[in-house]
Amino acid sequence: MSEGGRAPGRATFGSFYGALMAFIGVAVGLGNFWRFPYMAAAFGGGAFLVVYCVIVLLFGVPAIAAEFALGRLTRRNPLGAFRAVGMPGGRAAGWMVVLTIFVASSYYAVVVGWVFVYFVYSLTGALGTARPDALFQSLLGGVPVQLGATALVLGLAALVLLLGVRKGIERVSAIGLPVLFVLLLVLMARVLALPGVERGLRFYLVPDFSKLNAGVVAAALGQVFFSLSLGGTFHVTYGSYLGGDVDLPRSAWGTAIGDTLAALFAGFLVVPAAATFGLDLASGPPLTFVTVPRIFAHIAGGAGFAALFFGLLFFAAFLSSIAGLEVVIAMLVDEFHVSRTAAVLGVCGTELLLALPAVRSVGWILKSDLFWGSTMQPIGSACALVALAWVVGKGRALEEVRRGAPGAGFGALWFYWIRYVVPLGIVVILALGLKDVFATFFG
Ligand code: ALA
Repeated sequence: MSEGGRAPGRATFGSFYGALMAFIGVAVGLGNFWRFPYMAAAFGGGAFLVVYCVIVLLFGVPAIAAEFALGRLTRRNPLGAFRAVGMPGGRAAGWMVVLTIFVASSYYAVVVGWVFVYFVYSLTGALGTARPDALFQSLLGGVPVQLGATALVLGLAALVLLLGVRKGIERVSAIGLPVLFVLLLVLMARVLALPGVERGLRFYLVPDFSKLNAGVVAAALGQVFFSLSLGGTFHVTYGSYLGGDVDLPRSAWGTAIGDTLAALFAGFLVVPAAATFGLDLASGPPLTFVTVPRIFAHIAGGAGFAALFFGLLFFAAFLSSIAGLEVVIAMLVDEFHVSRTAAVLGVCGTELLLALPAVRSVGWILKSDLFWGSTMQPIGSACALVALAWVVGKGRALEEVRRGAPGAGFGALWFYWIRYVVPLGIVVILALGLKDVFATFFG
């Protein structure tokens, strides 16, 4: 491995708890609260849930540990990491994964902007007075409002990124995430007390395996990789900030469990309630924005809860948003020696331009998300697994993943699993089911 470009003084996280909260903060975001409920609703409810959890266990946890290991081993951004290990085609793979996050960050910022607008609606009382579907449609029709909110998100992100992301992220994640989980539990308890919720709960929880097909498996796979922030990018970059004493298997399990609980809870909030209110479960991106205000309308003090919910959701999504931008910025700084200020301003400004089609069409958001989020992220993660398992090799990969965790159960089985089963599984599942995923929404 070449030593050029290595960053010997690279900062590391302060504590295991802080690092774990930062990883969960990167993973928990719109994927859990916005994307998971409409994917679960569109792809069979309970059947999707079972497949989703199986994929988290079999693919997600081993892949997170592998991406952390690749990042910590090379101590570089994704493009640098692929090149540093000497992967044939590593440069192209590195560009591909960075491009994926670059494009995904643009429409992601638009949806974070929607959350911000909903936070304002909840403060002004608009959320409690307008009809939820009409309110959401009027937001979609308001290009200037969406563009303004997106610019605000990217502007705030630029400020945080200029101030230095790691200390900020570690600290705010450690405080904010536990509050978000408590609020989710409170809201879930309220939803479960709604009259007539049983029908929706049955749809969400009781798997109907007759609904299981290649499309459901491919949709669940894409959702797992999007939600866990896999893609050969976030965790490689964050892994590069980890000290040698950090237990990678424990970090991978913690990230996967925290993120999956958040997704399941968000599903509990949205899917049964949507079924109870008779909303269109296959409506896609609008689902959460139309359902959640109806839940608040049934709760005493709903306006306060709504402000708290959208405020915390904004915070969680914002953390994921800045992490996505950080991947691209780290690459520009490390590989091209661009000053951090120029990289932050250049990346955030370009994202605003890239967001233009997204603010004009929700269909465009859905389509690009299925391509970049559900397709390219799993492929990017497969590239990272190939880099670690095929190029770095067994001895060094095992040594890295077990450094800081000598007693961990990640041994030869894990290695052969990430070498053969996960990358091949990703390719086969996408090849068989991706067409059905697109057809579900656009057929
Ligand atoms: N994993 C992040 C999310 O779920 C990107 O929003």
